[in-house]
Order: sequence, then structure tokens, then C-alpha cells
Amino acid sequence: MGASISLDHISHGFSKSSALTLRHIDEFIEAGELVALIGRSGCGKSTLLQIIAGLIKPTQGCTRIDGKQVIKPSAKWNLMFQKASLYPWMTVKENAALGLNFAGLDKKQIDDRIDPLLSMLGLQDKKQQNVQRLSGGQQQRVALARSLATEPEVLLLDEPFSALDTFTRSALQAEVPAICKQRGITLVTVTHDIDEAVAMADRVFIMSQNRGEIVAQISLDLAWPRQQSAASFLAQRAELMQRFADTENQGCGQVSA
Ligand SMILES: Nc1ncnc2c1ncn2[C@@H]1O[C@H](COP(=O)(O)OP(=O)(O)OP(=O)(O)O)[C@@H](O)[C@H]1O
Ligand SMILES: [Mg+2]
Repeated sequence: MGASISLDHISHGFSKSSALTLRHIDEFIEAGELVALIGRSGCGKSTLLQIIAGLIKPTQGCTRIDGKQVIKPSAKWNLMFQKASLYPWMTVKENAALGLNFAGLDKKQIDDRIDPLLSMLGLQDKKQQNVQRLSGGQQQRVALARSLATEPEVLLLDEPFSALDTFTRSALQAEVPAICKQRGITLVTVTHDIDEAVAMADRVFIMSQNRGEIVAQISLDLAWPRQQSAASFLAQRAELMQRFADTENQGCGQVSA
């Protein structure tokens, strides 16, 4: 079962002299909820995800996962980075199984967990290949397999499908939320892509362009699984696009003087 995430009054600056990257982030994400975080490039999305994961200590405030303050990374949650960070000397399967090896699972347990995941991600024929010989999109899928393999309670995805072709991307935009719903995993997906946000979230947070705030949020009133060509999906997409434009028109996207 998933875990709740509480973002308690988080502000963050990378240095004392520069402006704050994140300001007054105060949100609660229910256990098992699927959230998407959207905003323009450089607005602080990856920074917030790394703070949730305990990789960056915020200047103010804290994250709580299931009520406990996050002070360091844990096996309870997994962050898939924007750039697939794989070990180049290992095979696809060895990379995907890394977390399970650390956890001490034996070969059969690893096979039972990893083989179906690699098949789902279209990598069944690449299992024994060195990851250096894969395309960027294939490497991204290996990183996704590694993130799912440990069955975390919280999954944090930073632009997970940006290097994928449109067919694989839309398949995974359906598959990943289905896995999370089935296992009760709490999911936070960072994306630039409005369709991806509508496909993968119960609720979408919109970040301002330069002020580091969550300036709006919208709960999506759509059934699972999402049908990207359905009229209701397209209507929700249009509403989200409008809300995003409204936040920028209201000056939420601009740096305050
Ligand atoms: N380690 C760091 N040191 C100093 N500044 C940083 C560091 N990491 C990020 N920043 C700055 O913080 C701001 C937010 O960066 P972040 O990577 O969180 O943006 P983002 O919303 O994920 O952007 P993108 O959509 O392009 O990935 C940027 O202005 C960036 O230059
Ligand atoms: Mg980023």
C-alpha cells in the first residue's frame, strides 16, 4: 500500500545570494493518489522531487512520508531521474535488478520480479545486452523497470517518458498509472506534457514560472483507465491548458519586482 506525502512549508534556495527556487510549498498527497507536477522549464520541478526523495535538504520546511520526516533516501520510495542513470558496464537485467540485489533477493525471486517487468516494457530481447548498446528510450525503460522492481510505496518520476517514441509513451502513460492503482503506489510525475499529466494523475499541480510556487491545482474528474481520445479527456485537457494560461496571465509566471 502507498504512503501519504506531506510537503510542510517548503522553501529552498541553492545559495544565499540567489532568489529562492521554491517558496511556501504546502500540500498533502493522499496514500495511493496520483499527482502530476507541471510547469515551464527551470521552475523548480526536479528540485521539489529531489526534496521529496530526501536528496536535497530544503532551506525551510520538510517532507513527511506517512507522517515521518524525510531526512535521507529510503527503499520505501524511488526516484527515477530525468536522465536515466544506469551502470554502463552492466546488462539490462543487472541494472534493472540492482535494488533487488541490494535487498538480498535470490536469483529466482529476482527473475520472477524482473522478467515480467522487462517484457511489459518491451525489453525481453535485450535482457543480457550491455545498456551502452541501447537507445536513449530503451535506457529510460530500463531505469523505469529498476524503479518499479523494488515495489516502492511512493514512486517519483521526473519526465519519465521524454525520450520515448509516441507509441511506447502512450502505452506507458496507461500502464504505469494502472500498476500504481493496482498496488496502491503513490505517484508523483513531473512533466512538461499536458496530455501526460491528464493521462497519469488524479490531481495536477501547476508551478509558476519563476516564483517557485504551486499556483493552482486541478482535480481530474475522469475514470480509470484514461482514454486519451475520449471527449471527456480532451475537455479536461483544455481546462488544464486554460488554467495554466490563466496563472501566467495573472502574473503568477512572472518574477515579482
Ligand atoms: N544544484 C543546483 N545548484 C544551483 N542551482 C540549481 C541547482 N539545481 C537546479 N538549480 C536551479 O534551480 C532552478 C530550478 O531547477 P530545476 O532543475 O528544479 O527545474 P525544472 O523545473 O526541473 O526544469 P526542467 O523542466 O528544465 O527540467 C533552475 O533555475 C536551476 O538553474
Ligand atoms: Mg527538471
